[in-house]
Amino acid sequence: MSERLQAPRGTFDVLPDQAAARDAVAHQAQELLEAAGYRRIETPAFEPTELFARGVGEATDIVSKEMYSFDDGGGRSLTLRPEGTAPVCRAYAQHGMHKEPQPVKLWYWSPFFRRERAQAGRYRQFWQVGAEALGSEDPASDAELIVLLHTLLEQIGARELRLRLSSLGSPTTRAEYRGELQAHLRAHADRLAQDVRERIEVNPLRAFDSDHPGTREVMADAPRLVDRLGDQDAEHFAQVRRLLDVAGVAYEVDGTLVRGLDYYTRTVFEFTSDALGAQSGVGGGGRYDGLVEALGGPATPGVGFAAGVERMLLAASEQPAAAAPIELFVALDEGAVRERAFEVLLEARRAGLRAEMELAGRSLKGQLKQADRLGARLVAILGADGAQLRDMASSEQEPVEARTLAAAALRRLREGA
Ligand code: HAM
Repeated sequence: MSERLQAPRGTFDVLPDQAAARDAVAHQAQELLEAAGYRRIETPAFEPTELFARGVGEATDIVSKEMYSFDDGGGRSLTLRPEGTAPVCRAYAQHGMHKEPQPVKLWYWSPFFRRERAQAGRYRQFWQVGAEALGSEDPASDAELIVLLHTLLEQIGARELRLRLSSLGSPTTRAEYRGELQAHLRAHADRLAQDVRERIEVNPLRAFDSDHPGTREVMADAPRLVDRLGDQDAEHFAQVRRLLDVAGVAYEVDGTLVRGLDYYTRTVFEFTSDALGAQSGVGGGGRYDGLVEALGGPATPGVGFAAGVERMLLAASEQPAAAAPIELFVALDEGAVRERAFEVLLEARRAGLRAEMELAGRSLKGQLKQADRLGARLVAILGADGAQLRDMASSEQEPVEARTLAAAALRRLREGA
């Protein structure tokens, strides 16, 4: 026997029971987002590596450690997309969407790839549902997206949700703050974890994400960017908060919230579920007013979110959905003609019935058991001398002309309904 092959580490098969639960979430997301004016977009699964290097940022964990990049054979580096915001902004600029009435509101449901350490809730291929609004600076677009994600999470029954909210201000404020934070970190370098110390110059904000006890103490006294905002950014943030208050969505302002992507400006947010373990981030996002321009497009503000489909389902502890019961099972008794049974099956399906036929050579008893497992209400039993229609609930059986079996089944189901 040859070795049994396995799917790669950190990936998973979506089995039929899980597919039904995922479809239900996709359907809810589509209804909700399209009713709010978001239209579906699908970008390629791979992009030029440069898109993420420029868009997400060279110093981020995603770009520096987690990308699946490969040479396309022509000396060009391509990368399996680790996230969807940079590709959507690339598409916006490429297709001249800035010429359309603004904002352009888009949503997606797609697989993404990150070479992360695999564990429960953290995969190397995972799905996100995301939404992006491009071309509006209005704090109502930030609030709208947060409220939409909140509604979606509530609708699917996600448990123990918390919303953390902050503002990262403008790139200038952020650059000044970076210097201030670096000075604080350098002054306490001896108490910091080694990896944090090594990243003081490259990515000092990530120190807020560290679990290391010494680092956490140092960070408790660290200056917060949210306290350093310029007047316009502070007013924008205040308006986002007022709109969330109007919507009745509860949040905590958390100056330690650092998202792992460099494109954010102003609003950032993250929904976590205390029902999840270490990987508690269900969905997050924020504003990225410089991203389209950084990718070579016209200066365009933007804001969006993405939520992990698998984490949403874990937070909702969704039970696998049962398969829909079938209505008619076509069974073959001794002497039955396969072609005739096949015709009955097709006629039943044409009449709109959910129907299946025996395909595993079971005895008649075995076939009735299988019909029962499938939840069939009726069984058509074809034999050498004619056909019978069996009601599975009452076990009553009546002879029926094989030609009219589908019609008789349909009549019976209607009577019983
Ligand atoms: P992100 O926080 O990197 O943001 O990912 C969003 C969500 O995707 C996370 O909250 C999590 O639920 C899920 N996720 C991320 N990595 C994994 C993984 N390895 N396994 C399972 N689920 C995962 C973004 O991707 C931004 N593009 C969001 C955004 C949209 N910002 C503005 N617009």
